[in-house]
Amino acid sequence: MNEADIQVLASIRRAELMGEFPDRESLENAAHRYWKYLEDWSESWQRLIDDGLIQGDKNGYSLTELGRPSAERYYVERPDFNWYYYQHFYAAAQASMAHTQFCERVYGKDLVQDGQADMDSIDDLIRYLKISDGDKVLDLGCGSGGVAEYLSDKTGAHVTGLDYAANAIKTAINRTRGKQDRVTFVQGDLNALDFPDRSFDAILSIDSIYWVSDIDRALASISSLIKPGGRIGIFISNTPSIDNAEGAYEPHGTWIAKSIANLGLNYDVHDYTESFQHFWPKLTKVMLELRDDFVAEENEVIFDSFMLAADENYLPAIELGLLRRFLYIARV
Ligand SMILES: C[S@@+](CC[C@H](N)C(=O)[O-])C[C@H]1O[C@@H](n2cnc3c(N)ncnc32)[C@H](O)[C@@H]1O
Repeated sequence: MNEADIQVLASIRRAELMGEFPDRESLENAAHRYWKYLEDWSESWQRLIDDGLIQGDKNGYSLTELGRPSAERYYVERPDFNWYYYQHFYAAAQASMAHTQFCERVYGKDLVQDGQADMDSIDDLIRYLKISDGDKVLDLGCGSGGVAEYLSDKTGAHVTGLDYAANAIKTAINRTRGKQDRVTFVQGDLNALDFPDRSFDAILSIDSIYWVSDIDRALASISSLIKPGGRIGIFISNTPSIDNAEGAYEPHGTWIAKSIANLGLNYDVHDYTESFQHFWPKLTKVMLELRDDFVAEENEVIFDSFMLAADENYLPAIELGLLRRFLYIARV
C-alpha cells in the first residue's frame, strides 16, 4: 500500500465517522486537508477495491471488514497534513536560524517550539505542577524535546518526552546525549500510551491533546499513569474550529474540562485568554519579518504552516471574539 492509498482509506474512515457514505467527488473535495502532502489518488480507488479493502464505485465507497482496521489506524495517525509535517519540521527547525530567531522573539527562548506557550506560561506550568528535583515527569507531544530538557535543567526532574514523529525523537535524543540520566525520549502515540501504571509524578501536554481520537479514553489512560497525589497539566487554545459546542468558550465548558470532570478528577483552570489575544498577531508579524530568511534556508514550509494556522483558525477567531486559552491542572 502506498501513501496515496493510505490517505484514501483514512478519508473514507473520516466520512464514515461523520455518518456519510462518501462519493469520490466529495472525498476529493475534502482532500485539501492534506495540504502540501496530498498524494495523487487516481490509481488508489481501483487498487483498494482489487485488494478488497474498500467496496463501491465513484458514487459511493465504504470500507470492507478487511479494510476497516487499517483505515481506523491510518485515520488516527493521518487525519490531516500534520503527521507528514511533523516528520519533517523538527529536524529542519532545530537547524534553522530563522526558526531560532522566531522562537526567541515569540516565546522568549528557543526551545524549538511549535505550540503556543511562551516562557512565562511554561514557568507557570512547572510551578502549578509542583515539579521538583527527582520527580518523574512525562511530556506528551514533546516535539524535539526542548521544553522537556528545559524543565529538567530547571528543576532536576527526570523527564520523559513522547511524540509520534520519529524525526522529532531522533533530534531530541541527539541533542540531549549528555543528559541521558534525566532526559529520555520515546516515539509513541498519545492514543496508545504504554507505560507502567502510577509511574509519573506529573504529566504535561502543551498544545498536543487536540489530536487524540477519544479524549475520555486518553485522559483515563493518562491519569492511570500518575502516582497518587500527582498532577496533570494541559494547555489548550480554543477556537470555533476546535470546539464550538455549547459552553465551549467557558473555562469549565470545554471538551477538556468536561472530560476531566467525567473522570471524577478535581482540577483548577487558569485562564490565559486576555494576555493571549496578542500572541497570534505578534507571531504573524514576526513570521512576516522572517519570511525571506525562511525562504533563503529553503524552510518556507515552516513559514507557510504557522501562517496557515494563523489565517485559517486563530486570527479569524480573534476577529469573532472567540479565541480562548486555558491551562487545566488536574489532581489525581
Ligand atoms: C503543536 S505541537 C506542540 C509541540 C510542543 N508541545 C510545543 O509546545 O512546542 C503538537 C505536537 O504533538 C505531536 N503529536 C500530534 N499527534 C500526536 C499523537 N497522536 N501522538 C504523539 N504525538 C502527537 C506532534 O508531533 C507535535 O510535536
